[in-house]
Amino acid sequence: MIMAIEKTQNEQLAVWQKMHTVLSGFTHTPKAFVQSFGCQLNFCDGEKYKGILADLGYTLTDTPEDADVILFNTCAVRAHAESRVLGRLGTLKPLYERNRDLIIGLCGCMAEEEEVRAQIQKSYPFVRLILGAGAMEHLAEALLRIYAGEKRLTVTELTGTPDEALPTVRESGFMASVPVMYGCNNFCTYCIVPYVRGRERSRQPEAIISEVQQLVDAGYKEILLLGQNVNSYGKDLQQPMPFPELLRQIDAIEGEYFIRFMSSHPKDATSELIDVMLQSKHIEHHLHLPVQSGSDAVLQAMNRRYTAAQYLQLVDDTRKKSPDFSFSSDCIVGFPTETDADFEQTLALIRHVKYDNLYTFIYSPRPGTKAATYAQCTSPDAIAERMQRLLTEQREISEAYNKRFLGAVCTVLIEKYNAETQKLVGKNRHAMNVECDGDPSLVGTMVQVKITAVKNWALGGTIL
Ligand code: SAM
Ligand code: SF4
Ligand code: F3S
Repeated sequence: MIMAIEKTQNEQLAVWQKMHTVLSGFTHTPKAFVQSFGCQLNFCDGEKYKGILADLGYTLTDTPEDADVILFNTCAVRAHAESRVLGRLGTLKPLYERNRDLIIGLCGCMAEEEEVRAQIQKSYPFVRLILGAGAMEHLAEALLRIYAGEKRLTVTELTGTPDEALPTVRESGFMASVPVMYGCNNFCTYCIVPYVRGRERSRQPEAIISEVQQLVDAGYKEILLLGQNVNSYGKDLQQPMPFPELLRQIDAIEGEYFIRFMSSHPKDATSELIDVMLQSKHIEHHLHLPVQSGSDAVLQAMNRRYTAAQYLQLVDDTRKKSPDFSFSSDCIVGFPTETDADFEQTLALIRHVKYDNLYTFIYSPRPGTKAATYAQCTSPDAIAERMQRLLTEQREISEAYNKRFLGAVCTVLIEKYNAETQKLVGKNRHAMNVECDGDPSLVGTMVQVKITAVKNWALGGTIL
């Protein structure tokens, strides 16, 4: 059954109280396991699922074997991601056979796909809850209904903006994600996201700014602002606010921290955005600007709504203002209409831009999208070969371009200690990985590092 649950605040409180009563009747500590897949926005949602479950009285566990509730918070962007989750779900069946009270839930983007729901209904009878990506605030109510006797439940919703007051369990004590908007209006012809996340809904600027202020006050050192296309932030608000203005207001918050954001759609990225970044105190000098292809014909077939020349214009203008500015990107290889000549144009573009990081994906047809109806003009072997060429080329480009930092002194946020290499790993203001020797107690702090070595994936240096 698909239901949209409308609840007043008092009704929600009553649901919460009833769930507390249900869980206090357990003879053991109720435990919950949540695993997220996909993009950073989805991991951010995963922190909210954990927050709700912890608030209801579950202890969070890292192992599904001892959990009373198991939620898979899923990604639908490529077929491979989906089949991995379905495979993992299959391995949970014996757990349900041992414990019929176990609640296994499929949440997130896959839960918004009709074909996936039908497949779960038919072939995964032990999955008792399907909760769509926009329906997370209904989790408590859905669990209560299952405890009250409903065998299986499906809740989907594409228009909701998660309640500002939803509890969150943050995975890190110094890096925090803050969504600024949900959904996407762009309908790139290959992409499933607009179908599983609905249209763009911006959060109120006051709510975002106050969340960032609280995080900075609590000692967070990196704030990652998230949306599928942050550059269209605020267009749907009653009092519209452009993204550069939101950034300006956030940057005014005093403290020692970095601001990052993603993703930026090139069609909406402006020189004003770059100026705000360069004039700011906290915003990184790095832009993730997914290009997808260097061929105008492919970009048009993808419905990206910019040309390679327009894209390069923004890159060149930025580098005139700030020569060491960092760009990273996403690139799809083997889009159905991509010819060898189109692919050569992609190689030419990445040579021109000199990305620090390139995330490469083999095109995966998504049912229901326009490109899924296009005929594939390239064999899988030829696509794999293109991918290899792209990776090799990019490795050489980044290694050569990273040399611009040799001898420089960078502020680095130390993110982790790698026990294997016994090195600290962090990021500088250009979002580049920096590796250095140092005490593990420095994790979560900002240090000054002199860059002394360059590899293709990282810079090496010495803490001053
Ligand atoms: N909203 C972001 C944007 O437009 O830049 C991207 C979000 S998407 C979740 C992340 C990346 O996945 C895309 O930039 C694209 O490169 C890749 N992607 C999306 N759909 C894909 C598909 N059907 N096959 C392969 N890669 C895909
Ligand atoms: Fe997908 Fe395009 Fe939206 Fe990004 S902008 S989420 S690639 S439809
Ligand atoms: Fe993200 Fe995957 Fe959904 S990339 S928005 S989790 S389809």
